[in-house]
Amino acid sequence: MADAFPILMLIERPSQWLLGGLDDRYDLRHAPGPGITVAITGGGEGIDATTIDACPDLKLIAVCAVGYDKVDVAHAHARGIAVTNTPDVLTDDVADLALALMLSVSRKVALHDHYVREGRWVREGTPPLTRKLTGQKIGILGYGRIGHAIAERVKPIAGEIAYYARSEKPDAEWRYIGDPVALADWADMLVVAVAGGKGTAGLVSREVIAALGPEGVLINIARGSVVDEPALVDALVSGRLGGAGLDVFADEPNVPEALLGLESVVLLPHQGSATRETRAAMAQLVLDNVEAFVAGKPLLTPVPAA
Ligand code: GLV
Repeated sequence: MADAFPILMLIERPSQWLLGGLDDRYDLRHAPGPGITVAITGGGEGIDATTIDACPDLKLIAVCAVGYDKVDVAHAHARGIAVTNTPDVLTDDVADLALALMLSVSRKVALHDHYVREGRWVREGTPPLTRKLTGQKIGILGYGRIGHAIAERVKPIAGEIAYYARSEKPDAEWRYIGDPVALADWADMLVVAVAGGKGTAGLVSREVIAALGPEGVLINIARGSVVDEPALVDALVSGRLGGAGLDVFADEPNVPEALLGLESVVLLPHQGSATRETRAAMAQLVLDNVEAFVAGKPLLTPVPAA
């Protein structure tokens, strides 16, 4: 182990694929310090400026997630430290889960599963009717890789699709609505697919939620920070918003207590990329970036300068 390559592992529970790939050429450390040139972290853990500065020799931060909002990228880049993430390999899973939430909220799949298990079908009879998803107007907030994949999935069933992005995408075949409130006002269902971070914090504001209205549904597979969560909870509890399908929250794993008893919501424990296939692919991309760094080759998926 004497000349094994030191890596700072900040992921609390690294996957078997990640650990399996970090063989005895690597010396896994769990505390920052001199001599560490590579840090591996997750989207939830990230790495802040203090930890970066506690590694004076750091040259690479490899993030095992597409979202790097908890990584101080500006600080890393200012210190000449590269950052990589794991785009593309998880796009399908996250888009699949968005569709699952859309169906589950409108057709009450999760709620009705509980209804059967709890014996309510026998005691109370057939539950109230649900809402038809096919034919709805679907608004997609954020039209990057994941927003595009969601549009492709809902295309066969949506009545219409429109999207918001900072600027119109010349290759998008859907209607562009350049204002989140106007998009929410137009849509029956609004799907949040923007990256997290300072630039999008609170983008789904009280006004956006009000524009969706009592028949509207919000789906969030992006980051909790994008939504004004107290406003969302207020609107759901009072019925001013029709429903929500949420895979992400402002303070994970803590979910606002008021949501737990609501039948209009489906709540998931941040499962967007959580399949065996995708977690293996994400781990491989992290390992490939680390290998490229060690070999002095170009990184595969560097995060651009902010
Ligand atoms: C998960 O949320 C990710 O950013 O990959």
